[in-house]
Amino acid sequence: GLGSVFDVLLANARLVLGVSGAAVLAIATLAVKRLIDRATSPRDEGDPKAEQKSLEESWQDLALIKTTLKPPKKQRREDLSEPLLSPARSLVPGEAPNPSGCTAPLAAPQVKSSPLRCLTLQEKLLSHSSQLAVPEIQASLVPQLARSICTQLQNFLRSKFPELPFGRLFLSGALLDGLEVLAADHIHLMLPVVLDSGLWNLISGEDTVVRNPQYWMIKRINLGYFPRGCSPWDRFIVGRYLSSSVLNETLHKLLVASINWPAIGGLLGCAIHPMVASRELKLEVKHDQVELSITLFPVVEMEDKVLLAVPPEGLVENLWLESFYRAEVSRVKELDASDSGARQLCLRILNGVCRSQPSLHKLGGSPLTHVVLHLSDAATDWAEESLADRFQQVLEELVASLEKGVLLSYFNPKINLFSGLLEEEIDEMGFVLYRAISEPEVLL
Ligand SMILES: *[C@@H]1O[C@H](CO)[C@@H](O)[C@H](O)[C@H]1NC(C)=O
Repeated sequence: GLGSVFDVLLANARLVLGVSGAAVLAIATLAVKRLIDRATSPRDEGDPKAEQKSLEESWQDLALIKTTLKPPKKQRREDLSEPLLSPARSLVPGEAPNPSGCTAPLAAPQVKSSPLRCLTLQEKLLSHSSQLAVPEIQASLVPQLARSICTQLQNFLRSKFPELPFGRLFLSGALLDGLEVLAADHIHLMLPVVLDSGLWNLISGEDTVVRNPQYWMIKRINLGYFPRGCSPWDRFIVGRYLSSSVLNETLHKLLVASINWPAIGGLLGCAIHPMVASRELKLEVKHDQVELSITLFPVVEMEDKVLLAVPPEGLVENLWLESFYRAEVSRVKELDASDSGARQLCLRILNGVCRSQPSLHKLGGSPLTHVVLHLSDAATDWAEESLADRFQQVLEELVASLEKGVLLSYFNPKINLFSGLLEEEIDEMGFVLYRAISEPEVLL
């Protein structure tokens, strides 16, 4: 009956994930349970045929998972000339048999002529990666527009708040670091808040009521010698701390109400709209050829930390979020440079996957980078020839991490990057990725 099938599937799941112990099994259990639910609940009530079909289909799915054994480390074309998983697949009613799993447009002519031949995962990844490039017009126009807006904003801030020592605004984001894929439609604008280190110091969020190591508080010190008013930033103090919320509100007002965006837009040949209702300080920019959103982040750099004025929702209003973005990107590039590795290529492909699958959006960017960095500590071979192995390994690692609900920050093991995810989100991502482990090409 179903019970024993269930056991077999779970035993296989343990093999697939290569992790011992029970920790890893909840997602596998969930995946199997969903399939069984689907098998036992009629899709179209009152139509026994539909029910029958759904049952049959689901059993095929179960069989698919059952065959989900770790693929041989180095797949070769010959290995794939006989379809591994297709017998179950091609029996699914209503589904055109596609035993090769190949997408024809990518296949070389001789491959097309022989339907059973198939590209290896490695070949698919490489050909897929060439389709991820950001269109040239966007890649050049977006930073150019953003830079022009940046200059206008800087001038405005200087004239409006001559007493506030803002640093030079600069652009940031995956596009500038060569890790953006598919489309360039957002860019970050960093606004440095320059603090006198004699007047301010940092308190870890761990030591505050929120007990969260992702955040910091910036405390005004030496008030005895330098009373309130000595620092130009003192007007943003709430209860002795530099308030990210008050600064945000001031800038929000400025973006929404003070700056003459229609005039600036006219000058730059685009329409610029501040997002009034957004939690972030955001501008939408529409140009004939591109559309983008620009998010402004006030940033404090102190004691080797990069802190953003992004307080957590609700709760305490004085918190600053530590950003590891710059460290992430430079570490990945450094590692690739030292061993001619393909980490950035792997990340681009994975970012493309997360971008095109709504349920995986929250894994894109930082979490993926941290997984790649963790794996870099363990696996030495990041050469392009091993791309498929590493890609597969990242997927397995993600499933195992989702399973535990824990992805430790590479730079601070006290931080769990998954702490903000909802249980349903974890389940959904785990489900999608778990099923992809046996057949990673479904993600491409
Ligand atoms: C920033 O201020 C605006 C206006 O008060 C508010 O709507 C928004 O939620 C704030 N954002 C954050 C991150 O607190």
